[in-house]
Amino acid sequence: MYKLEPLPYPYGFLEPYIDSKTMEIHHDKHHQTYVDKLNVALEKHKELQNKKVNELLENLNKIPEEIRNAVRNNGGGHANHSFFWPLLKKDVKFEGKIADAINKRFGSFEKFKEEFSNAAINRFGSGWAWLVLDKGKLEIVSSANQDSPLSEGKIPLLTLDVWEHAYYLKYQNRRAEYVSAFFNIINWKKVNENFVNMKK
Ligand SMILES: [Fe+2]
Repeated sequence: MYKLEPLPYPYGFLEPYIDSKTMEIHHDKHHQTYVDKLNVALEKHKELQNKKVNELLENLNKIPEEIRNAVRNNGGGHANHSFFWPLLKKDVKFEGKIADAINKRFGSFEKFKEEFSNAAINRFGSGWAWLVLDKGKLEIVSSANQDSPLSEGKIPLLTLDVWEHAYYLKYQNRRAEYVSAFFNIINWKKVNENFVNMKK
């Protein structure tokens, strides 16, 4: 059985950039639903129940066809949100090895911000924007629905949820404003950890 871990901080931790009510509903309702539906999908597949959710997503083609879409969507929903929460914190400096690598790859923080923002704003419908390592190289990508870059062999370092449920209460249709606010709450220390631990 998969289980929802508590949010690693209080609901109001990211105010005013993300409001408390959004965090509560997003974590306690939306994320919980992905976990519940993943468990239902795996009910008759005991051999998959003890695997890490990332492992399921890395090997989607090995998941029995009748539950593959459910795992893709709900396993993805569980993995993406679990990865997302610890990436958010106010007042963390852009520094460390990841900052050096971003500056080198994109030219400057501003260029990186622009490219990441475009990926987030232009993702049509629901999805995620990502900074990933693709064959050892930093790349910005976006994914639809709950698709994870893990399923394409990429290593996620940073992500932003651009489903309306992530921002609609406070920002309504103004996704660009939400994306801009996100840059105040990136936990660069965590992104750096992801980068240092996963770059092999
Ligand atoms: Fe979400």
